[in-house]
Amino acid sequence: MCGIVGIVGNSPVVPRMMESLKRLEYRGYDSAGVATLSGGNLDRRRAQGKLDALSEKLSLEPLDGTSGIGHTRWATHGQPTEPNAHPHMTEQVAIVHNGIIENFKALKAELIADGIAFESETDTEVVARLLTRELETGAYPSQAFQTVLARLEGAFALCVLIKGEENLMFGAREGSPLVVGLGNGENYLGSDAMALAGLSNHLIYLEEGDWVELSRTAVQIFDRNNQPVERQVSISQVATTMIDKGNHRHFMQKEIYEQPTVVAQALGRYLDPNAGTICLPDMPFDLADVPKVTLVACGTSFYAAQVARYWIEKIARVPVDVDIASEFRYRDPVYTDGGLAIFISQSGETMDTLAALRHAKVAGQHIASIVNVTGSTMARESDLVLPIYAGPEVGVASTKAFTCSLSVLASFSVELAHAKGTITAADVAEYVTELEHAPALMAKILSKDHEIEAIAQDIADARDILFVGRGIYFPIAMEGALKLKEISYIHAEGYAAGELKHGPIALIDENVPVIGIAPDGGLSDKTVSNLQEIMARKGKVILLSDNKGSIAEDMHAHFEMPSAGDLITPILYALPVQMLSYFAAVEKGTDVDMPRNLAKSVTVE
Ligand code: F6R
Repeated sequence: MCGIVGIVGNSPVVPRMMESLKRLEYRGYDSAGVATLSGGNLDRRRAQGKLDALSEKLSLEPLDGTSGIGHTRWATHGQPTEPNAHPHMTEQVAIVHNGIIENFKALKAELIADGIAFESETDTEVVARLLTRELETGAYPSQAFQTVLARLEGAFALCVLIKGEENLMFGAREGSPLVVGLGNGENYLGSDAMALAGLSNHLIYLEEGDWVELSRTAVQIFDRNNQPVERQVSISQVATTMIDKGNHRHFMQKEIYEQPTVVAQALGRYLDPNAGTICLPDMPFDLADVPKVTLVACGTSFYAAQVARYWIEKIARVPVDVDIASEFRYRDPVYTDGGLAIFISQSGETMDTLAALRHAKVAGQHIASIVNVTGSTMARESDLVLPIYAGPEVGVASTKAFTCSLSVLASFSVELAHAKGTITAADVAEYVTELEHAPALMAKILSKDHEIEAIAQDIADARDILFVGRGIYFPIAMEGALKLKEISYIHAEGYAAGELKHGPIALIDENVPVIGIAPDGGLSDKTVSNLQEIMARKGKVILLSDNKGSIAEDMHAHFEMPSAGDLITPILYALPVQMLSYFAAVEKGTDVDMPRNLAKSVTVE
């Protein structure tokens, strides 16, 4: 979602802020802007749409200044128009903001009653107007900033410039991440390590309630009680070079094709093939004592959690609860003493997942997070972190993070089972061998991309598409439907195959393609029977399977999958559903990497 960068610098800042905003594009946005201080005065340029529009404005009307703030906005309050774009400014202050000021209506009413006029529909402008009013009372900038912070409710990261104060910048973190970057004669603020990648690799992650005063040569952090605090400096591993698409047309395409490599990398961190063992990091608790596992996540990460439930229950025989993060804490979950709560998140910043993590922590659960971004808030607040080592994922639609999360979850499930004594060391060694085969099989599936492309082109005009599977393939069906709808805008649903006749089968006619996920063995006969029911109603069945079986004659298309062991098969079946969505979106000409209305890092509730 919204991205922030701030530089208190000693050379022109606009080109560097634009570079940072480019790095933040992956988060998703619909308008952007920058403000600088030059000759003591504030000025800004803002534009609706992508960064190119802002660059164009800046080339027509350049901005000078060695201190500045920049922002990419994902609209929450007010449409993605230029007046609602950040920075929000008065003559006295310029502000960029990520998050939501929940009490903005009351504050706005108070300011309007005070005769103050507003020019945007945003909650952020309230902060700019409040701060201006405080400064006009003659308060020192830091005093005025503290007073305003004390009045704000909600989740926010703020970055503030003040007229006449070229060697000063304020930042605050409450609920939304904000990172300080330390420079040489300069200092920086950013919404994540990526924003600061080209500026500094010495980072300080602010904690909840912290606010910070930056000059070119000093950084002073205060806690929510306005007491000076020291926070640890960490060294960022984020690459300083701009991540590019290489020879690929889209980041999503690149990330789909990278999967054999990154899954091999991830498994390399967790498997010891010579010893035939799984190596997890040191645990602050004993896996053998875990009575119950709670898995919580959003979106694609939630489907990874659903797959993992089957593994953990089947192999380790440990009861598992799986929850959508935005629902979790509101259902007042019943925790089991000593339980392990695992939070899965590519970004490690998803607001609902983070709130769920904190809920479980207060309840005394052991907290583990499975994240891609190891400097993320979730990682920092967990007792145990299992990184997925997928590398930066830029495409808004998650692909490689899904298969890497599954690889880590599969390894974890096997180790949990071993600790629980439900499998032997020899069984572990067999699972390790099976996991090791996954990358090569993934490469084999990707090499048949032209077949999936043809199927995708054939169905890209459909209005509705269903994905069906049973057991562990039901979450893969839901993931396929999510992927398709988010990037191609085709309406799609994932169903448990046996559930169709309880309602959804009413949708079936010759215009509705149904993707059946049915690897041979297990429940495949039952899924195939359900597919037969669909074909009997003229539905176009497209089968993903290593066995065409008895329906070969009547189905619309078949994509032949390699046969593999039960543990890795769900990981493999993620690939054709990702490719199907990708090629359907390309066929429809949508913005594959930045689909409408979506953000990569969802930092509001
Ligand atoms: C879909 C997608 C989203 C994310 C979800 C959670 O392709 O990417 O559904 O999976 O927003 O994000 P993380 O994993 O960062 O918590």
